[in-house]
Amino acid sequence: MSQAPNEKKKIILSGIQPTGVFTLGNYIGAIKNWVKLQEEYDCAYMIADMHSLTVRQDPKKLREQILSAFAIVLACGIDPKKSLTFMQSHVHQHAELSWILSCNTQFGELSRMTQFKDKSAKHADNINAGLFTYPSLMAADILLYQADLVPVGADQKQHLELARNVAIRFNNNYGNTFTVPDGYIPKAGAKVMSLSDPTKKMSKSDSNPNSFITILDKPEVIVKKFKKAVTDSEASVRMGEGKDGINNLITIYSVVTNKTVDEIEKEFDSKGYGYFKNAVGEAVAEHLRPVRENYERLINDKAYLTEAYKRGAETASKFADRTLQKVYKKVGFIAK
Ligand code: TYM
Repeated sequence: MSQAPNEKKKIILSGIQPTGVFTLGNYIGAIKNWVKLQEEYDCAYMIADMHSLTVRQDPKKLREQILSAFAIVLACGIDPKKSLTFMQSHVHQHAELSWILSCNTQFGELSRMTQFKDKSAKHADNINAGLFTYPSLMAADILLYQADLVPVGADQKQHLELARNVAIRFNNNYGNTFTVPDGYIPKAGAKVMSLSDPTKKMSKSDSNPNSFITILDKPEVIVKKFKKAVTDSEASVRMGEGKDGINNLITIYSVVTNKTVDEIEKEFDSKGYGYFKNAVGEAVAEHLRPVRENYERLINDKAYLTEAYKRGAETASKFADRTLQKVYKKVGFIAK
């Protein structure tokens, strides 16, 4: 979507919060699909910097992380000439639409969000209004671009469902305004699990660094972390119930090598877990190697990054404004 989106193609929108370095979960659950989708559709991908303020941030660190996040997204293969890439805070229409949608979202709906419950428990000293209305801002992100599809991991399903409900409600109350978006959740890898506790989601905010792989981890670190991954006592490389660790490793290996589960089970038949874990580590390290190399080059090219996000915001803003003005008219505001 380097130009205003072509109406004939499906429109894709997704975002990622610039909090900490991205994990293999972010990559497999979301960014890898973003790259795939940009070949076929009109895509818009943003760094959700406004969302990250729902948790306290150090401004200096946040500023670095936003740029780094943008560089990682490009390093993974998002081409700003093919996809619209921008920072959420550069497009003021997100905050504006978010207000209108907040007035069309019920307290009860927001109270049911599991992420709100989890994050309020985790940050009990800072249960701010933004944390509560976060899903309305996410709905605004999606609906502003009239997105058809939203590629996300499984943990964003509930927020996406809310965005759909808000879109349907608004359309019913004010007449057809928004495209009702569908989720694009990968069959394999929608929930990459922690390496140290495979019953939990892999998360960049986990206090144990061995529980997650970051996209920028060095190959030897990746291999080492996989060697420590928690498995089970069965010692057979097969998917199965109660084998959360092995199921997770097989899924990861399958996504990065494009091999089917059957092929993997055959390949490692009669091989021990140590051997398999080493193979997974090496495959992931190899898969992420070009991403890390691209990142090292891009993060040192500030002029290129600045030009890319400025151009992205300019085009995004034009498109977002069309929707916002339509919404303002529908709700009864007077045109400027
Ligand atoms: P965020 O920043 O938490 O995560 C970015 C993407 O990574 C996916 N993800 C995972 N997928 C599989 N396994 C995991 N362990 C894993 N961890 C994270 C997430 O599902 C997500 O797709 N609210 C969003 C950002 C956002 C957004 C949007 C997304 C803001 N506006 C509009 C889509 C559309 C978030 O906090 O994602």
